[in-house]
Amino acid sequence: MGYRAVYEGWKADPEAFWMQAAQGISWVTPPSRALNETRAPLYEWFTDAEVNTCYNAVDRHVDAGHRGRIAIIHDSPVTHSKREITYAELQTRVATLAGALRAKGVQKGDRVIIYMPMVPEALEAMLACARLGAIHSVVFGGFAAAELAVRIDDCTPRAIIAASCGIEPTRVVHYKPLLDAAIDMATHKPDFCVILQREQEVASLTPGRDVAWHTFQYGVTPAECVPVSGDHPAYILYTSGTTGAPKGVVRPTAGHLVALNWTMRAIYDCGGGDVFWAASDVGWVVGHSYICYAPLIAGCTTIVFEGKPVGTPDAGTFWRVIAEHGVRAFFTAPTALRAIKREDPNGKLPQTYDLSRLNAVYLAGERADPDTVIWAQTHIKVPVIDHWWQTETGYAIAANPLGIEALPVKIGSPTVAMPGYDVQVLDEGGHPVPAGQLGAIAVKLPLPPGTLPTLWGAEDRFVKSYLSHFPGFYETGDAGYIDDDGYLYIMARTDDVINVAGHRLSTGAMEEVLAGHKDVAECCVVGVADALKGQSPVGFLCLNKGAARAAEDVVAECVALMREKIGPVADFKRAVVVDRLPKTRSGKILRGTIVKIADGTEWKMPATIDDPAILDEITAALRTLGYAKG
Ligand code: COA
Ligand code: AMP
Repeated sequence: MGYRAVYEGWKADPEAFWMQAAQGISWVTPPSRALNETRAPLYEWFTDAEVNTCYNAVDRHVDAGHRGRIAIIHDSPVTHSKREITYAELQTRVATLAGALRAKGVQKGDRVIIYMPMVPEALEAMLACARLGAIHSVVFGGFAAAELAVRIDDCTPRAIIAASCGIEPTRVVHYKPLLDAAIDMATHKPDFCVILQREQEVASLTPGRDVAWHTFQYGVTPAECVPVSGDHPAYILYTSGTTGAPKGVVRPTAGHLVALNWTMRAIYDCGGGDVFWAASDVGWVVGHSYICYAPLIAGCTTIVFEGKPVGTPDAGTFWRVIAEHGVRAFFTAPTALRAIKREDPNGKLPQTYDLSRLNAVYLAGERADPDTVIWAQTHIKVPVIDHWWQTETGYAIAANPLGIEALPVKIGSPTVAMPGYDVQVLDEGGHPVPAGQLGAIAVKLPLPPGTLPTLWGAEDRFVKSYLSHFPGFYETGDAGYIDDDGYLYIMARTDDVINVAGHRLSTGAMEEVLAGHKDVAECCVVGVADALKGQSPVGFLCLNKGAARAAEDVVAECVALMREKIGPVADFKRAVVVDRLPKTRSGKILRGTIVKIADGTEWKMPATIDDPAILDEITAALRTLGYAKG
C-alpha cells in the first residue's frame, strides 16, 4: 500500500488505524479502544490499557531471545572511548538502577530530573524511571543553573540524577556546581541526588544528599517493570514558549509507545537489529524519541555519540561513525551539516568511508536550506529526508515515509502530512486558505497518540497556548503553505521562538534577562539569519537616563548575564546600545522590520511606524555588528 492509501485509510477510520498500530506493543492489559474523547477538546489515547515503557524498550527483546544484540553503542571522540551494551546487560543495569531508586522511595508518579551528558547512563536513568513508572524530566547540559532551578520548582522531583561533568571540545562543563547552585536557588529540594562520577572530573558530594552512582546501586534488589495506565505521563520535557517560564510538555505513556514504534518502520524503514543514529542530545526531544525510546522499542541498536560534527577530531567524524557501526538511518540537524560543509565544501571526507549500509539521512529541528540538502545528496549519495516536528508532538508531523513509499523529494519541503495529522493552513480568522497561500499551520483535533495531552501542572496554559486561537485545531506556532501536490512548506514561526543551531529558544525569555540589568531601560532581542546556525540572537539595549556607563561595558555584562541566566546554549554574543527602539504608534516594537534590515532582505516602511528616523539608527547599529549589508 502506498502513502496515499495509508493516509486515506487512517482518515477514514483513525480508531482502526491506531488499534492496528497498537499491536506492535507488548501490553500488560491491551487497550479496548484507542481514542478517549470524554474531555474533548482535551483528548487522550489508550487510557484503559496497562503497559510499561521499559519492558517494551528492553525486556521484551531479551525475552524474545536477543540477549546478545547490541542495544547501545557509546561512541565518544571527546573522551577517546567506545563501549557497547547488549540488551541483556541493559536489562540488568536498568533493573538495578530502578531497584536502587525504589529502595530510596521513588515510586510510580514521582518526578526525577536527569541532568547528564551524552553517556549511556543517561538512557539508563530514563529507562529506570520508566521501569518504576516514575516521570523523568531531562534537562539539557547547556542550560544555566537558573534554568535548572526553574525546572526543579516546576516539576518538584523526588530525586535528581546527574553526572559530575560533561565534555565540550574546549572545556569541561562542571555539572555538579551547576546542580548545587540550582538546588540552592530552587524552593523545592529533592530528597537525594545520584551522581555519576566521570573520570574526567570527580565531583565532591554533599553529605546526606548526594550518593555516587555505583555506591547507590551496590547490593540492591533489581526492580521489575511496574505497569502503568495508558495515559500515565512517561516524561516531562521543558521547551521554550512565548516568554517567561518554559512549558512542561507531558508525554503520555501508551500513545508514545504506539506512535514511536510505528514511525520506526513507516518513516525510518528500520526494524530489529538495524543500527539507528540520531546525532542530537538526550536533552532535546529528538534525543528522547530517537536516541533513547524509538530505536530501543523497535529492537534496534542506538548510538549515543558524545562529540560534535566538526573538531572532534574533524569534519569526517559523522561518516566514520556511520561506516564503523553500520548505521542504516542517520538523523541530524541541518546546522550540523552546514558546519561540516563549511570545512569540507567538496565533500571529500564522505568518500573516504564505506557508507554502503546507510539508507537515508533525516533532517529536522529547523528549516533545511536547499544548499545544504543538495550538498548532502551529492556527497552522501543517499536520500536526504527533511521532516518537520516539535517537542509537543514527539515525532514527525510531516515526513517522507520511506518505509511506506519513497515520495519524490521537493527540496525546501518536509514532504507530506503523516497519518494522524490533518494539517491545514489557516488565515487569521481560522479559515483554510487555498494551496500556495501562506498562513498559520494548524492540525485538526484530535492530535494523534503520543502528542502532548497537556502541560505539566498548567492545563489552562495548554489550552490558551495551543487550542484557543483556532477552535477545533492545535496551533503549531509555525507559518507556511501547502502546494498543489499536498507538500508542506514551513517558512517561519508566528511567535517569538527562534531556532539557533537547531535549538529552540525564546527571544521573550532573553528580553526578560536583559531587562534585569540595572542600566537597561528597554530592550528587544531578534533572531537574525546566520549562515551556520540558521538564526542568531541580537540584542538592542536602551539605557536608563543618567546611566553613565560605557556602552561596551553594558553589552559585555549583558552577554555574561545571559550566559549566567539561560546558559551557553542561548549563544547570545551580540548586542548594541541604541537611543530608542522602532515602534508602532501603539507602542509595539517592530521586530520583524529589524530582522529584515539585519538580513539585508527587502523591507517596506511600516505604515504604523511612530518615528521612521529611528530605523536609520538601527541600521547603523546593525552595520557595526556586520549585518544590514543588503
Ligand atoms: N553542555 C554544555 N554546554 C553546551 C552543550 C552541552 N551539552 N552543548 C553546547 N554547549 C555550549 C557550547 O560549548 C557553546 O559554548 P561557548 O559559547 O562557550 O562556545 C554554546 O553552548 C553554543 O553551542 P552550539 O550552539 O552547539 O555551538 P558550537 O559553536 O559549539 O557548535 C555546531 C556549532 C553547529 C557544531 C553545533 O551547534 C551542532 O552540532 N549543532 C547541532 C545541534 C543539534 O543536533 N540539535 C539537535 C536538534 S535536532
Ligand atoms: P523543537 O520543539 O525544539 O523540536 O522545535 C520545533 C520547531 O522547530 C518547529 O515548530 C519549527 O519551527 C522548527 N522545525 C523543526 N523541524 C523543522 C523542519 N523540518 N523545517 C522547518 N522548521 C522546523
